[in-house]
Amino acid sequence: MKSGGGRLVAGNWKMHGSLATNRQLLKALVSGLAPLHGAEFAVCAPFPYLAQVATELAGSGIGWGAQTLSEHDAGAFTGEVSGEMLKDFGCTYAIVGHSERRQLNGEGDVLVGSKFVAARRNGLVPILCVGETLEERDRGETEVVVARQLDAVLKLAGVGAFRGAVLAYEPVWAIGTGRTATPAQAQGVHAFIRDRLSRSDAAVAATLTLLYGGSVKPGNAAELFAQPDIDGGLIGGASLVAGDFVAICEAASRG
Ligand code: 13P
Repeated sequence: MKSGGGRLVAGNWKMHGSLATNRQLLKALVSGLAPLHGAEFAVCAPFPYLAQVATELAGSGIGWGAQTLSEHDAGAFTGEVSGEMLKDFGCTYAIVGHSERRQLNGEGDVLVGSKFVAARRNGLVPILCVGETLEERDRGETEVVVARQLDAVLKLAGVGAFRGAVLAYEPVWAIGTGRTATPAQAQGVHAFIRDRLSRSDAAVAATLTLLYGGSVKPGNAAELFAQPDIDGGLIGGASLVAGDFVAICEAASRG
């Protein structure tokens, strides 16, 4: 364990699942992850399945979370789900600012910041996603983009809100493409993120959990998690395959 934040592997199911397949997957995770220590594990499921996830995971020690949340707590916001509602039935995590929400749902830095604040306000642990597109990387703008995304949230929430938070570096070009960042590339950005937060508050930066996301598989997880500033992973496709997710969690609990 390199940081004070602890080790975490979280699955992001995205818009996948059914009652029947979820049941199978969750049962396999409960038994497969039971012997593992030294890391936390969680799944982030679509809203309609969160109650099922809560029931299946009860008493297992595996956490669960949502993939987004409203920036508001209640009101005339048709179709939205608030942090207050998520907290009401025991949710721990909320992913905020996933690149798919930024790209497909038009979520900008300020809205992402407001969602981060809403998660904190309701006692949820935000998993704040940052990361550059391939064009931005090719233009040498990775750090500029990640700094912009981080600073927007810092400005709105204040550095104290980052205490114990989870950040996920997810280069857009590595998500679902099978093309993962090299451990050195990921480590470089993770160190940059921790350093950037340290400049505001070194004690808070030491409590962050920094996840890498983007085509993490059983075959590359150990090498990624061995990097000094990579505390775990945010796993998409491989989190839908019980054996793969368990193998990735094993790599994190060994690392
Ligand atoms: P993949 O693991 O499928 O590349 O997805 C990563 C991701 O977006 C997790 O949030």
